[in-house]
Amino acid sequence: MPEIIANTKSGDYPILIQQGALSKLGELAKETCRGRRAFIVTDEHVGAYYLDKAKSILDAAGFQTASKVVPPGESSKSPKQLLALYESFHQAGITRSDPVIALGGGVIGDLCGFAAATWLRGVPLIQVPTTLLAQVDSSIGGKTGIDLDCGKNLAGAFYQPKAVLMDPGLLRTLSRQRMAEGMAEVIKYGLIRDLSLFEQIEQKTYDLEWVLERCVRIKTTVVAADERDTGERMLLNFGHTIGHAIEKVTGYSVYTHGAAVSIGMVAAAKLGERLGQTEPGTADRLKKLLMAYQLPVQADLSIDDILHAVQSDKKRLAGKIYFVLLHHIGKAFLYPMQQEALEREFREVWHHV
Ligand SMILES: NC(=O)c1ccc[n+]([C@@H]2O[C@H](COP(=O)([O-])OP(=O)(O)OC[C@H]3O[C@@H](n4cnc5c(N)ncnc54)[C@H](O)[C@@H]3O)[C@@H](O)[C@H]2O)c1
Ligand SMILES: [Zn+2]
Repeated sequence: MPEIIANTKSGDYPILIQQGALSKLGELAKETCRGRRAFIVTDEHVGAYYLDKAKSILDAAGFQTASKVVPPGESSKSPKQLLALYESFHQAGITRSDPVIALGGGVIGDLCGFAAATWLRGVPLIQVPTTLLAQVDSSIGGKTGIDLDCGKNLAGAFYQPKAVLMDPGLLRTLSRQRMAEGMAEVIKYGLIRDLSLFEQIEQKTYDLEWVLERCVRIKTTVVAADERDTGERMLLNFGHTIGHAIEKVTGYSVYTHGAAVSIGMVAAAKLGERLGQTEPGTADRLKKLLMAYQLPVQADLSIDDILHAVQSDKKRLAGKIYFVLLHHIGKAFLYPMQQEALEREFREVWHHV
């Protein structure tokens, strides 16, 4: 099975990618953790499909397995659920050598990851991502956290898992819309680093295991080069400055993250073309591909609202916005722009997206 080793400052960990890989969870937990108890965190949707299976696999490997099922959705990335998890860990007697398993999408990965990072100052974490977005993005890189009333992802920690187990078979139960959302991130990897990935997605000839491997290799390489979210890692934010602004302006309720990023990527490609930095025709080619996955490519939102939201984005450094642009499909770079220049140019492209 493809096994990628992620190198991080706090140690290396394996990422297994294979159809049916869930059946390896017990062995993997035994290899990477000394404890005899295990704790699975999942949500109601994922739990209904896979919790019993995951539990019996861990039990068969000799673990005494407990679990907590939280309601599905972003609202579970909350202080309330975090405290409830600590309580459950306590009741289950989870010690510093017992594995905690995040079985779910990015919400579970972030919530459970943060709980694992902070319970007893850190217990072993195994990520079992079950959405395409979580497999190609959130389960790798070590970012964990919860949302607060004052903003999303504001409390969190960098915390690397002991292992990540990626089973593309788990995606069979995912809705078409959720798959498309993850596909927006896959397309992003193609755009920033991998023309052949982009082409395979365009031709629809890809094999999911292969796609996961390509995306994971890009993310682990970029993250290893830059574990603390400056420089290189910013390339992973292609389409996200505008994407985040769209999510914010619409109160996180109109567009999913993937949909907002889809619009943001088209806008960034247009902006790059307008600035003479991006190969002409790139935005149109990208639009065509995103539309084939029924992802939106434009939004009828006020440009003033979008720019206001961009201004308050946390990625701004010393008055400049580092905007990720493309030279061409497969090659992204950081382009520093003054706020005023960005606003001027962006107004020009927004309604021609
Ligand atoms: N840590 C990071 O680096 C990082 C990166 C990107 C996003 N995120 C976070 O990830 C979260 C979004 O993740 P997400 O899109 O996976 O959302 P999610 O975890 O809410 O999952 C989406 C929906 O799909 C359901 N689901 C999950 N797996 C399923 C399966 N196999 N079959 C059927 N249904 C399934 C879930 O129950 C949920 O209803 C956000 O909170 C975001 O902030 C984190
Ligand atoms: Zn994203």
